[in-house]
Amino acid sequence: MQIGPHLLKNKLIVAPMAGVTDRPFRQLCKKMGAGMAVSEMVSSNSLLWGSIKTQRRANHDGEVSPISVQIAGADPQMLATAARYNVDNGAQIIDINMGCPAKKICNVMAGSALLQDEKLVGRILDSVVNAVDVPVTLKIRTGWDKQHKNALSVARIAENSGVQALAIHGRTRACAYTGTAEYDTIAAVKAAINIPVIANGDITTPEKAQEILAYTKADAIMIGRAA
Ligand SMILES: Cc1cc2nc3c(=O)[nH]c(=O)nc-3n(C[C@H](O)[C@H](O)[C@H](O)COP(=O)(O)O)c2cc1C
Repeated sequence: MQIGPHLLKNKLIVAPMAGVTDRPFRQLCKKMGAGMAVSEMVSSNSLLWGSIKTQRRANHDGEVSPISVQIAGADPQMLATAARYNVDNGAQIIDINMGCPAKKICNVMAGSALLQDEKLVGRILDSVVNAVDVPVTLKIRTGWDKQHKNALSVARIAENSGVQALAIHGRTRACAYTGTAEYDTIAAVKAAINIPVIANGDITTPEKAQEILAYTKADAIMIGRAA
């Protein structure tokens, strides 16, 4: 599994989880074998960067590479500035959050709410990819509800924008965390695009990890709650 110049030591990635995947947790996961562990999301709103919470999230001292930092927001320019800020603070990969279903995030049209506006998705990705010299990755859901599963079209936009890996959580935004993740959409995206695809959602055992890798043909898996 390769993201830009970074060759991961395996296909196992720890999912970004706000309030969970802080620096000690990421370091522990990497020590215990994870190929990569993505940071908690950092807001693209620069007014928050002075806060202790955001300063802690932007601190990567001593972290094992590759250091992947997730940013969240809805404004292309603000996200580009946030990406540069985090690269200046040690980020080696910038991940963009278009997967979070939380009301606090979606109410400002960020996180998974962005999936409803594909033009804006394209503008955000172009803006962030052009702003930094490090690889940009994207995390999405399969769509915003079961009637609007547009992961494939978002994946194509991402590939065209120069995004270097795509993580897909096998639920829609409307599903939140209910029901079970489905992997057909992930398999369809993997078959259609040429950038690495990372399968995510309900991977809870080594057996399921193998099963999902084989079923989706994804390049890697991402584990959240079972981490
Ligand atoms: C407590 C918690 C916090 C999360 N925070 C984020 C986040 O900051 N950014 C993000 O993209 N996804 C976030 N997620 C979603 C996870 O990254 C992952 O997509 C989801 O939990 C499904 O994977 P799992 O079934 O392996 O847990 C969060 C999930 C949980 C449970």
